[in-house]
Amino acid sequence: MAMFCRSAASLLKPVHFLPSALAVVRQSSSGGQYQYILVDKKGEKKNVGFIQLNRPKALNALCDGLMLEVGKALDIFEQDTEVGAVVITGSDKAFAAGADIKEMQNKTFQECILGNFLAHWNKVATVRKPVIAAVNGFALGGGCELAMMCDIIYAGEKAQFGQPEILLGTIPGAGGTQRLTRAVGKSLAMEMVLTGDRISAQEAKQSGLVSKVFPVDQLVSEAVKCGEKIASNSKLISALAKEVVNAAFELTLTEGNRFEKRLFHATFATEDRKEGMTAFVEKRKADFQDK
Ligand code: HXC
Repeated sequence: MAMFCRSAASLLKPVHFLPSALAVVRQSSSGGQYQYILVDKKGEKKNVGFIQLNRPKALNALCDGLMLEVGKALDIFEQDTEVGAVVITGSDKAFAAGADIKEMQNKTFQECILGNFLAHWNKVATVRKPVIAAVNGFALGGGCELAMMCDIIYAGEKAQFGQPEILLGTIPGAGGTQRLTRAVGKSLAMEMVLTGDRISAQEAKQSGLVSKVFPVDQLVSEAVKCGEKIASNSKLISALAKEVVNAAFELTLTEGNRFEKRLFHATFATEDRKEGMTAFVEKRKADFQDK
């Protein structure tokens, strides 16, 4: 296993890379070191956190070390008061071709249970700042699941989404059966999960899995633009908005509406709500302070 990807335990220790490996180790603007991802801050105001999956030879297969690094970068962006949104992307060929099959090949049931295999992936779904997935190329298995953990999915026009685990004798294990079904409905989700067939970016858009489709070379800049738009609003209010939209997947309509109403009332305790409405009345742009 270790020959394909650094393990979770080794990620926590100081790592001494061979000179040949130095080329893939990047210093992020947030100060961390990463082997499998590139980390940056984008946008005119550098207020969009940017994570690029960077295992091109394996089509960004999501090995344990890569997903730990994604979690670490997200933690840093969560703490960064400049950052108002995060974009996760891959390469033109692959957002991610799934969990790392070579890493999983010899895993036993006991190891899965005792190691709580893949539990840390959930970090992506629990981040409070808005996360946009910019998907070019393959988003398969865990790659599709990773995109679905994000809040918004933008796709390049050649993107392909699929849950091909059935072809490997397994099933989705990071939310594929649940989030896909909620996104596209039972019939298409069943068809994808039971046949392993992929859908195109256009089908993904029609079925509600993605919100917008762009030419391949414009996808990332459009996702960053969306991130900038979100980051220009109050981070405080965005966190409430994200929380209550996500609650729609967990609560009944009555409970969800009650929760929404209470959070709406709560915005009246903030400076930003006052500033937003005052700016409208004074015909100027709001200057939110995240207070
Ligand atoms: C490990 C992978 C990989 C994966 C591709 N590679 N996908 N390695 N895990 N998921 C590696 C290949 O082994 C190969 O490396 C290199 O990437 C290029 O892949 P090719 O197959 O040569 O490329 P291509 O012919 O263009 O085909 C692209 C592809 C195919 C259609 C995406 O690679 C493919 O079907 N990949 C597997 C997709 C999949 O089944 N995903 C679900 C995984 S299970 P080498 O060195 O061998 O040449 C999963 C479970 C999720 O995600 C459960 C919870 C997270």
